[in-house]
Formats: sequence, structure tokens, C-alpha cells
Amino acid sequence: MTRPRRVFALDLGTTKVCCAVADLESTGLRVLGVGMVASRGVRKGAVVEIDRAAEAVAEAVDMAEQMSGVAIDSAVVGIAGGHITSQNSRGVVAVEAGHREVRDQDVHRAIDAARAVSVPSERRIVHVLPQQFTIDGQEGVRDAIGMAGNRLEVDAHIITGANTAIQNVVKVVHKAGLNVDDMVLQVLASAEAVVTEDEIERGVVVVDVGGGTSDIAVFARGSIVHTSVIPVGGNHVTADLAVGLRCDLETAETVKRNFGHCLQLTLPADAEVTLTPMGYDEPVGVPQRYLAEIIGPRAREMASLIAAEVERAGPLGMFPGGIVITGGGALLRGFAEVVQQQTNLPARVAAPMGLHGMNDEIRGPSHATVVGLLRWGARSNLGRKPSRSNGKSSDGPAAGVKLSRWFRDLF
Ligand SMILES: Nc1ncnc2c1ncn2[C@@H]1O[C@H](COP(=O)(O)OP(=O)(O)OP(=O)(O)O)[C@@H](O)[C@H]1O
Ligand SMILES: [Mg+2]
Repeated sequence: MTRPRRVFALDLGTTKVCCAVADLESTGLRVLGVGMVASRGVRKGAVVEIDRAAEAVAEAVDMAEQMSGVAIDSAVVGIAGGHITSQNSRGVVAVEAGHREVRDQDVHRAIDAARAVSVPSERRIVHVLPQQFTIDGQEGVRDAIGMAGNRLEVDAHIITGANTAIQNVVKVVHKAGLNVDDMVLQVLASAEAVVTEDEIERGVVVVDVGGGTSDIAVFARGSIVHTSVIPVGGNHVTADLAVGLRCDLETAETVKRNFGHCLQLTLPADAEVTLTPMGYDEPVGVPQRYLAEIIGPRAREMASLIAAEVERAGPLGMFPGGIVITGGGALLRGFAEVVQQQTNLPARVAAPMGLHGMNDEIRGPSHATVVGLLRWGARSNLGRKPSRSNGKSSDGPAAGVKLSRWFRDLF
């Protein structure tokens, strides 16, 4: 029997750092260990303090090593932040003379042509995600290899990030004693964990509501069509509550998780939560409907920003799979309903799929990214044989063309 491949993932989030180890088995991923600690030195998805972030990563890695009994020397690492931007690009090449059909090399050359867009020197390409091929004017070709033709075009979605922001993530990971196997846009990893190939084929919007940002990936006709970052996340809801209730952030967070709701009228008029506002000596009863009065406008603002991005991506009819909301912020009660109202698309909250083993720790929506990173690693042949003890230095992040699952099928 062949031994399963082993994969390691690291999600460096704004609120939490999560490290996971899993074996890829025929039935899916068997999680061997997970480590999670509160994040430090990360703001709105980007590293702002290398030393503190590295400490947090090292702690999460230690925890995952202890739980799994496996030494972790490298990981597939998620990347995010306001510095990430995306654009569509087209690459055109002549099919190599002497061959009457498109071959691997032609596809690679077409993708290289698409990635040769002008990227400012302070930025670098993180992903080149092919969307469709056109052969001799015939659009909508999924699998170009083997097709007869002379002229091959590819439409690709190109994701770029700021060099410095990417380097800072690499520095954090190195400082914590790990190599970077690969870098993956966090929301693409989340999508990998929460939606099916079938939904991607039909058209679906994935929203990862994190602490500081909400990241969006829109899919249609089997490939990615749009990505973007909304600079509002669950922590904004907490901050609004802290102001509105005149309490500290910690109390506001607890109140939000236990009693928060976006929709006032779904709550009984007499339901209350007891807390002691700043400047008060005694606890007071606050109607839960008042919490919803504070949370509701922020939820509607987030939902309308999501709606604007969906509109930018294409007509609603393109997304019969609706909106799939994940990330810790997806746990805010009533949020899916608000998104549904604002976007006119069905919306649901989703947690990562297809796990076995010690997965209690990573069952919820806030772990979609780390699970997706494991799956990405498993698919990209980044997994190593468990017997290997010393990891070799990786090629560094984001080198070469990143083949998404929506593309890899072609090879
Ligand atoms: N039960 C809950 N109800 C409401 N909100 C919650 C709940 N649990 C977590 N959250 C919110 O989810 C957010 C954190 O989500 P998540 O863990 O996905 O963030 P992150 O990955 O660290 O951040 P980011 O992806 O923005 O870098 C916080 O704002 C937190 O308040
Ligand atoms: Mg996250």
C-alpha cells in the first residue's frame, strides 16, 4: 500500500493564526493535528509587526506538532490584505508549427503571454488563473490540449500583491522556522474548502468574512471571474458594539458571539443581556433588540458592498449557486439573511467539507482557509512522504504559474 501524502498549512489571519497537518487519503484529508493561537502583528490581513507575528506562528506550529507528533518544516501559506489586486488578461500565441494540435507547451506559452501584463515593479504576480481558451476564434474552450488549431488564446485572471507585503509574510514564516511551500490567496483557499466543483461550474460567489476584511471570489462557467477585498469584517461589528454599549472590545466580542443578531424583529422584545458599561458601578440590562439596532446597519453596509462586487462580476443570472459565506464573521446571526436581501441571491453559511480525523478544531467556518490550504497543497503535489524528516528549502512563494483546480484538469 502506498503511504499517504502529508500536507502542512498555515493561515496567518488578522484574529487568529492556524496551522494544520493532514494526510491525503483516498477518501479525503485526515487531519493529524491543528494549532491555533490569537494572532499578533497582523492588521487587515497584512503583517505589520514581523517579530510578534512570527512568535504567534511559532506557537501555532508547536501546538500542531504536539498534537500530531509530526515535525513541521514548511507549509502552504495563505496571503491576503488590501494590497492584493486582480485584473483579467489575454495571452495569444501561434500553435507551434509542424503540429496540428495544441500541446502542453502551447498552453504554457499562452499563459506566459497572459502573465506578461505590465505589473509595476513594486508588485508581483501571485496567481495566474486561466478562465477559458479560444482556438482560431472559437471561444469557450475548456480543454485546449489535443484540439486542432493554429491560433491559441487564453483569458486569465491575474492576482497581484505588493512585493513588500508578500516578503513580510515570507519573513514571518522563515523567522518561525518554516519554509514556504506555496502561497495562496486566502479566499481561493476558502473557496476550495466550502464549494463544490459543480457549484463553480454553475456559478457561485464565495465571501470569507474575517476579522478585518471580507474577501470575495466569484466563479462562473467553471472558472474564477472576479476577486476583491472589502475592508470591513467582523471586528468592525465588535467595535460598533463597544462604542454603542460603552464597553471594552472583549465584552463586546463576547456579547456579539452570544447574543448578537443582525435582524431586530426576529428577537423577542423582552430578551436582554446584562453587562456593566464603562462608568457604571452596577450591571444593566440591555435589550437584545438594541444590539441588533447597532449590528444591523454595519451588516447591511457589508452586504451592500458584497452586492456591489457581485454586480461588478456579472449579471445575477450567472450565479445560480448563490452566495456562500464563510470565515468567522459568517457566524454572525442573521447575516446570511441580510446578504440575501441586499443581493437578491440565495445566501448560506458554509463550513469546510471533506475532513476526517482530529477535525473538531477545524470544523467551523473560521477554518475554511486553513482547510482549503491543506487541500491546495494536496492537489499541487506539495505533499511529502511522511517518512521524510528534513524539508528542503522551497523555491519560494508564488514562483511560476499557479494552476488552479479549474485549470489543472487540463493536464
Ligand atoms: N460565533 C461568532 N459570532 C459572530 N462573529 C464571530 C463568531 N466567531 C467568530 N466571529 C468573528 O469572526 C471574525 C474572525 O474571523 P476569522 O477567524 O475568519 O478571521 P481571520 O481569518 O483571523 O481574519 P482575516 O481573514 O480577516 O485575516 C472576528 O471578527 C470574530 O468576532
Ligand atoms: Mg481569514
